[in-house]
Amino acid sequence: MKAVTWHGKRDVRVEEVPDPAIKEPTDAIIKITSTAICGSDLHLYEVLGPFMTQGDILGHEPMGVVEEVGADVEHIRPGDRVVVPFNIACGRCHMCGMKLYAQCETTQVREHGMGAALFGYTKLYGQVPGGQAEYLRVPQAHFGPIKVPDGPADERFVYLSDVLPTSWQAVEYAEVPEGGSVTVFGLGPIGQMTARIARHRGYRVIAVDGVPERLEMARRHGIEVVDARAADDVPDAVRGLTGGRGADSVIDAVGMEAHGSPGAKLAQTITGFLPDAVAAPLMKQAGVDRLVVLNQAIDTVRRGGVISVIGVYGGMTDPLPMLRMFDKGVTLRMGQAHVKRWIDDLMPLVTDDADPLAVMDLATHRLPLDEAPRAYEIFQKKQDGAIKVLLRP
Ligand SMILES: NC(=O)c1ccc[n+]([C@@H]2O[C@H](COP(=O)([O-])OP(=O)(O)OC[C@H]3O[C@@H](n4cnc5c(N)ncnc54)[C@H](O)[C@@H]3O)[C@@H](O)[C@H]2O)c1
Ligand SMILES: [Zn+2]
Ligand SMILES: [Zn+2]
Repeated sequence: MKAVTWHGKRDVRVEEVPDPAIKEPTDAIIKITSTAICGSDLHLYEVLGPFMTQGDILGHEPMGVVEEVGADVEHIRPGDRVVVPFNIACGRCHMCGMKLYAQCETTQVREHGMGAALFGYTKLYGQVPGGQAEYLRVPQAHFGPIKVPDGPADERFVYLSDVLPTSWQAVEYAEVPEGGSVTVFGLGPIGQMTARIARHRGYRVIAVDGVPERLEMARRHGIEVVDARAADDVPDAVRGLTGGRGADSVIDAVGMEAHGSPGAKLAQTITGFLPDAVAAPLMKQAGVDRLVVLNQAIDTVRRGGVISVIGVYGGMTDPLPMLRMFDKGVTLRMGQAHVKRWIDDLMPLVTDDADPLAVMDLATHRLPLDEAPRAYEIFQKKQDGAIKVLLRP
């Protein structure tokens, strides 16, 4: 089959690789019909290379049709249309019992001290072949795959794999008070959907980004925006809009590759040029995050407010302003999304033909799998108006 494989910093290719096969009775094989590129894939493309191996198959936002199931897989059958959550969870362990699926104890990558395995996401997360391919082997398929109805376009459902549950969790963790305000940093796909979900739930949303078409997309869905490139001081701009106090809650939907962090960008660039054997342990101990947005979030939130970090961070010794955080009495919540936990909240919204979250207005590019190298490039460089790219195997 064809698959998108990683070969080095900013080097992804489409290659012929062996077809996956069932190995465990809890596996399924899915024929992929749509598969998205995520901001998290960009970290592999740029920063997390030391944890990748040449030829690793990328991708964790797939959907398709069940081709084959193992003997223990009962809730789906060949021919069913399914979306595959990005985290791999058993549904049966202590953590899964608490719906903390991103911490599943059956798939935790203990060797690296990490949480549940993820599709297509580095040795730290189990090096499981990903879903930017024609076929995908799904481990723990007795639990993971989400059945969706036949009929509507893939775009109505594909974001259940990551973007929608992640955004839902971001809002949930932000604990916005009834009728309160929330500032969303970052208007990539995650920030866009986070802002729309927060609005849908009745909050005042102020979103921040510096890319014109991303600001414009948010505006057309009724979101107030602050242009990070035009504002001298973003937290001040938000305070100006919120009676001088700051937002009740702030969501960081940017993560470790924030623009405007020159020192840390240098650290990321240097580790990118070291051999993996040197860079990987260094990155596990060093500070590598570009923290400008997290610092702005701490500044922007009102006293006693909540910060929900959904953007991914990866350094081990990055300094945080503890005095400011402690004195303001900030609550901080974060982590990988527990995808399946939020599906019951989201399914009524994506199956509603009125499309209340406007999922049909997120993808800007729908390309054949063969064009993955260009797709990664335009998404990373924010060229050609790229906001979300879907690949069709
Ligand atoms: N926690 C999870 O489970 C989970 C799941 C999916 C994605 N993520 C993470 O969420 C983040 C966003 O993902 P995405 O797909 O939307 O990616 P993206 O790269 O398209 O979005 C990032 C956005 O942040 C903006 N940005 C950068 N610097 C900024 C700054 N200084 N101020 C304001 N905005 C700034 C960029 O212009 C861009 O629009 C990534 O870190 C990704 O890894 C986390
Ligand atoms: Zn993703
Ligand atoms: Zn589990």
